[in-house]
Amino acid sequence: MSKITSSTLLKFKQEGKKFTSLTAYDASFAGAFDSEGIDVLLVGDSMGMVLQGHDDTLPVTIDDIAYHTRCVRRGIKRALLIADMPFMSYATPEQAMTNATTLMQAGANMVKVEGGHWLLDTVTKLTERGIPVCAHLGLTPQSVHVFGGFKVQGRDADNAQRILNEAKALEAAGAQLLVVECIPVALAKTITEALTIPVIGIGAGADTDGQILVMHDVLGISSGYIPRFSKNYLAQTGEIRSAIRAYIEEVDKGIFPSSEHTFS
Ligand code: KIV
Repeated sequence: MSKITSSTLLKFKQEGKKFTSLTAYDASFAGAFDSEGIDVLLVGDSMGMVLQGHDDTLPVTIDDIAYHTRCVRRGIKRALLIADMPFMSYATPEQAMTNATTLMQAGANMVKVEGGHWLLDTVTKLTERGIPVCAHLGLTPQSVHVFGGFKVQGRDADNAQRILNEAKALEAAGAQLLVVECIPVALAKTITEALTIPVIGIGAGADTDGQILVMHDVLGISSGYIPRFSKNYLAQTGEIRSAIRAYIEEVDKGIFPSSEHTFS
């Protein structure tokens, strides 16, 4: 069994093979997801909502992410492990380097940052110093208060063009992966085709190279509410490992996400 690396994901993209990602926050779930074949695990700052019970991701700290990254690292053998840089932990390139170092030393293979043009210098500096970066565009939850709520992004032509330009610039700056969240299907397709690096979608349609979901949504235990773009696979299968296998299979076959999970 060979480990998933950024080169593996690049090869998947080149071969047109879809890959699957999930959030994970502890060793046991991470181990189960990993052994069922999830390719990428993200210690997401979504933990602020699904673990800590906050209304958004802003209260999550670098210590929180580092602790859960150490837990997840102990559970996995194959998957690529990405750790989220929490709100204001990368406001300057210097902060980003200090905090990303903490997450890499906790066991991450890559760090994820939310934002566009303002991050280019940070992405380059991190990459040059040996820290691979996953960028995140579209509905970036750390900016929820700027957006005025959890809203689909890139619906008008100007914003769609800006997001596409930012995606290209982040790739040129050194980002090795890109997450696009809650953007129209057509925009996600354009970005995926325009970039060489793999693009992972959530609420972005079936044309991205990979998909990511929050594990609590897949298992139907997100405080009574499952976002439109997600799917409760536990309800469909009745067993956690079967739910994960169903998610992997549906992504692989292009069944998930379908039009009911996407935005036009
Ligand atoms: O924090 C998180 O879980 C995320 C995913 C939803 C992409 O950023």
